[in-house]
Amino acid sequence: MTIFCQPAAPDDLTTGIGADVRSVDDLDAALRALNDDPTEDLVVVGPDADTGNALRFAARLRLERPTAGVILVREQVDVALLTEALRAGVREVVTAGDRAALRTACERSRALSGHARTNDEPQSTKRGKVVTVFAAKGGCGKTTIAINLAAALAANQVHRVCVVDLDLSFGDVAISVQLDPVRTISDALPMAGHLDTTGAASLLTSYRPGLDMLLAPVTPGDAEKVPAALVGELLTALRGIYDFVVVDTPAQFSEHVLTAMDVSDHHVLLTTPDTPALKNLRIALDMLDLLSYSRDIRSVIVNRSDSKVGLSAGDVERVVRSPINGHVPSSRNVPISINKGTPIVIGTPAHPVSQAITRFAHERLLSQTAPARHKAFARRGAGRR
Ligand SMILES: Nc1ncnc2c1ncn2[C@@H]1O[C@H](COP(=O)(O)OP(=O)(O)OP(=O)(O)O)[C@@H](O)[C@H]1O
Ligand SMILES: [Mg+2]
Repeated sequence: MTIFCQPAAPDDLTTGIGADVRSVDDLDAALRALNDDPTEDLVVVGPDADTGNALRFAARLRLERPTAGVILVREQVDVALLTEALRAGVREVVTAGDRAALRTACERSRALSGHARTNDEPQSTKRGKVVTVFAAKGGCGKTTIAINLAAALAANQVHRVCVVDLDLSFGDVAISVQLDPVRTISDALPMAGHLDTTGAASLLTSYRPGLDMLLAPVTPGDAEKVPAALVGELLTALRGIYDFVVVDTPAQFSEHVLTAMDVSDHHVLLTTPDTPALKNLRIALDMLDLLSYSRDIRSVIVNRSDSKVGLSAGDVERVVRSPINGHVPSSRNVPISINKGTPIVIGTPAHPVSQAITRFAHERLLSQTAPARHKAFARRGAGRR
């Protein structure tokens, strides 16, 4: 199938494309059409669409739906436009009226998409690391650490990283990075039971190159409709696309959180240096032990570790009876960065908070190879299913 994006597309243009064509009026409608049909593999953007919008559309599609192609039809084609278009991920730029060129460009793009889909199979055996960030007490900094950890992992654009907002009822990943939650986990519901990488990719919101987000539902009541099994499907599909999938969680051991823990390669447990948070961390660690999750894949981070509350690092280690793998200082620049919508690791990489999170990412996640060697888990084997 092909989507032809041009208000009132004239028949002679659409027939030149040479396959089933679905005409839409604008790029938003093209996006909706793509979301409706995961097999859709080509969008031809007609000459009336604004070039800047078309290039942004192509750049987004390249990340979110890499198997689909974008062909741009322009009244005039010059080198500057070509360069910009190819850089954005447009497959070909064709001069308006040149029906033969458009037809062959479409054929080439479809062949490429077919090839990319075939290559998607081995790709889906790719196994990125799933990292779940959890704290049994609210407000410890799960969302802050999850987003900034993802930003640290995605720095230098070597690794592709995705943040999943599993705080289904009160998720604030979208608001923390000022993304409009047009697509959310709720949109995965019709795909439950048969979710593949293309389907999962269609749910994502791009934040910056190499860093995407799967946002929490926004409509009241939608969170309850998401079955825990769908979380497993989503994370399994996403690890087929990304090198790291960082999961932000609510502050309870819900079935959804446990499903995320099951498929995780690493558990990051958070606390702040105050007795209620430490007590809850201790309970969470005992719970994880009880459920037979491996300690090898566990890290503990003390957030706001320098807060003047009378508990030293040694006190904290004694209370949680576990080594501490990261200390993130407290800084008013953290809430400021959230209000600005730019994670501090991206906005101020040299800040002590950014440095602490980046160091943790390197020491505990990037330097550990072969994620498969640490299997999270004996939980299912422990009789839960
Ligand atoms: N290192 C830090 N220094 C200063 N403020 C911080 C730090 N980490 C988090 N905060 C602030 O603490 C508050 C709670 O952080 P955050 O929302 O990340 O916690 P959470 O565990 O996700 O909360 P919830 O349980 O409500 O989801 C936010 O206002 C955030 O800006
Ligand atoms: Mg949160």
